[in-house]
Amino acid sequence: MSASLTSELAGRIAVVTGASSGIGEQVAQALARRGAAVALLARREDRLTAICADIEARGERAVPFSVDVTDSAAVDDVARRVRETLGPAGIVVNNAGIMLPTPLGDPEPKDWADQTALNVGAVNYTVLAFGGQLVEAAAAHGVADLVNIASIAGKTLFPGYSAYAASKSYVIHLGRSLRAELGPKQVRVTTVEPGIVDTELQSHIPSEESRERLAGTRTRIEWLTPEDVADAVTYTVCLPPRVNLAEIAILPTRQPA
Ligand SMILES: NC(=O)c1ccc[n+]([C@@H]2O[C@H](COP(=O)([O-])OP(=O)(O)OC[C@H]3O[C@@H](n4cnc5c(N)ncnc54)[C@H](OP(=O)(O)O)[C@@H]3O)[C@@H](O)[C@H]2O)c1
Repeated sequence: MSASLTSELAGRIAVVTGASSGIGEQVAQALARRGAAVALLARREDRLTAICADIEARGERAVPFSVDVTDSAAVDDVARRVRETLGPAGIVVNNAGIMLPTPLGDPEPKDWADQTALNVGAVNYTVLAFGGQLVEAAAAHGVADLVNIASIAGKTLFPGYSAYAASKSYVIHLGRSLRAELGPKQVRVTTVEPGIVDTELQSHIPSEESRERLAGTRTRIEWLTPEDVADAVTYTVCLPPRVNLAEIAILPTRQPA
C-alpha cells in the first residue's frame, strides 16, 4: 500500500447494498478487513448471515440487514436501524443492480421497469436515506464516502441493453452532480465503472442465447474478478481526505470498451 494511503478504516461505518454476492460481497469483506464496521444489505438473508458470520469470525464487525432496496420506506427503516446499531454511515457503497437485455422488437416491459426500479430507483433511495448520515460522519471523521457502482455500459454503446446502459448513465451523472454538492461538505463521491466482472449478474439473463453470447467473450477476454473491483473501492476510500478519485473505469485488459 502506498504511504499516502491511510492504513485502515477503523472507526468508520460502511453500508454496502447488494452485499450478498459478487462485487458487493467482496467490497464488504475488503472494507471489514481494513477495520470498518460494515452493514450488509440485500434480500437473501441466509447469504448475508453467512457472510457476516465469516467476517465476525475474523474478529471484525458486520451486521446483516435483509431488505429489498426498491422499497423506499424499507431503505429508510434500514438506515435508521444502521444508525442505531453501528452509528452514522461514513461509507455508502450503492452497488445493488441487475443487467437484463431489452432488445426492441422483443419487448419485455418488466425487464425495463425492473432495471429502472433497482439501478435508478434504489440508488436514489439509498442516497436519500443515508445522505444525512454521510454529512454527519464527514463532520465527525473529517471525510465520508459515497461510492456508486455504475458500469462502463453507461459510457459506451451496448446494443440490446439500452435500459441497462441508460440506467448506468444516470448513475454516472448523478455522481458528478452529487460530488459538486457534497464535496464542500467533505463527502467524496466516487463512481466506479467496471467492464465485465465474473459474478452472478450474467446468470440472471433469461435468454440462453444472450447468456452464451456474453460467455463467449471469455475466449478472448479474461474477465475481472469481484475482488479486483473491491480493491479499487478500498483504495479510493483509504485515500487522504483531500483526495477524491471521482470516476474509476476498471476494465479487463483485453476489453476494448
Ligand atoms: N458483473 C459485471 O460484469 C458488472 C459490470 C459492470 C457493473 N456491474 C454492476 O455491479 C453491481 C453488482 O453486480 P454484480 O456483478 O456483483 O452482480 P450480482 O452478484 O448479481 O450482485 C447483485 C447484488 O444485488 C442484490 N440485489 C438485487 N436486487 C436487489 C433488491 N431488490 N434489493 C436488494 N438487493 C438486491 C443481490 O442480492 P439479493 O438477490 O440477495 O437481493 C446481489 O447481492 C451492479 O450494479 C452491476 O450493474 C457489474
